[in-house]
Amino acid sequence: MLQINENYQKLPGSYLFSTIAKKVAAFTQANPDKNIIRLGIGDVTLPLAPAIINALHAAVEDMAAAETFRGYAPDLGYDFLRKAIVENDYKARNCDICEDEVFVSDGAKSDSGNIQEIFGPQCKIAVCDPVYPVYVDSNVMAGRTGVYNKETEMWSNVIYMPCTAENNFVPEFPKETPDIIYLCLPNNPTGTTVTKSQLSQWVEYARKAGAVIIYDAAYEAYISEDNVAHSIYECEGARECAIEIRSFSKNAGFTGVRLGFTVVPKDLKCNGVSLRDMWARRHGTKFNGAPYIVQRAGEAVYSTEGKAQLKEQVDYYMKNASAIKQGLKDAGYTVFGGVNAPYIWLKTPDKMTSWEFFDYLLENANVVGTPGSGFGPSGEGYFRLTAFGSYENTVAALERIKKL
Ligand code: MLT
Repeated sequence: MLQINENYQKLPGSYLFSTIAKKVAAFTQANPDKNIIRLGIGDVTLPLAPAIINALHAAVEDMAAAETFRGYAPDLGYDFLRKAIVENDYKARNCDICEDEVFVSDGAKSDSGNIQEIFGPQCKIAVCDPVYPVYVDSNVMAGRTGVYNKETEMWSNVIYMPCTAENNFVPEFPKETPDIIYLCLPNNPTGTTVTKSQLSQWVEYARKAGAVIIYDAAYEAYISEDNVAHSIYECEGARECAIEIRSFSKNAGFTGVRLGFTVVPKDLKCNGVSLRDMWARRHGTKFNGAPYIVQRAGEAVYSTEGKAQLKEQVDYYMKNASAIKQGLKDAGYTVFGGVNAPYIWLKTPDKMTSWEFFDYLLENANVVGTPGSGFGPSGEGYFRLTAFGSYENTVAALERIKKL
């Protein structure tokens, strides 16, 4: 008899950003004359940098000639891209990572949702609270979580690590021992991060616990402080306990182009089985590679011109982050983040819930943000604004918020 995967039935509502999009669409339909400023989903707004565009054009030309045409990409990704990744993201930071430990993909969202497949159904996950919803939802779909408690907004069989103003948004080691630990640093949604020495303690903890850290470093390009690690492999011992997921979306504006990669070191083993080999098997079976033209665009991210142009883009967004942070502070808000990340995490005013503030901001300032509670129960009473808008819109949104 045909059966569905019942785990999907356990998921409450729709994906956070789909819910927001529906709410905004309804508001727009009812108020067609309002000029809405979207600082909700972390989607970039600057066009692709010239170095990327040139690489895309050249790669399209390659596809037009029989001598340079490419069909299926190699399983792990093209050598030219994996070489650039290893040289620039790892060797340049003294991280011992080699090319056959890098798996090129169509983005960090898919990888962070798919990576749980190589672990057993009984593994217990630990997540920060608030957290990027993909980590939890993908484990719900796989049947690794228990039931959802509507009151607490928590799943049974999941270890939550609250990240609040009280602990500076730095997760504490859980009392119960997890098998898989999800860390996103710099953090989405709080925009905060940890020092390299704090991250090293997590590596030590995971090694002692026999756990694996799934390290989402999608926002590493936004790190501005020297004592913050860009890769978990800067920490000693991480090769034995960590998988790192990277994105080209936020550092190079590839949200619509789609490119990312995951690093699974050969030293990472579970009962003698290589997780790197398992991920290779999974990747080869279920994925046919990111397009050649996109991988060439990814290579251009590491070119001299690419690096300079993308630094300008990151600086542009971080100028927005500073403007939001300062503007909100001036308006009397309590704000966090925005120093090593393109997200500002603010306390909602007048004890409003996160969704109350979402509606209030949408209706009165026509500004869209993301309710903190959408990322988990400890996000209640908080709200996220993204620095990925245009500078003009960012300043205009702040002017509106100040007038509330
Ligand atoms: C976000 O807004 O949290 C991100 O854009 C989501 C994502 O990167 O998938």
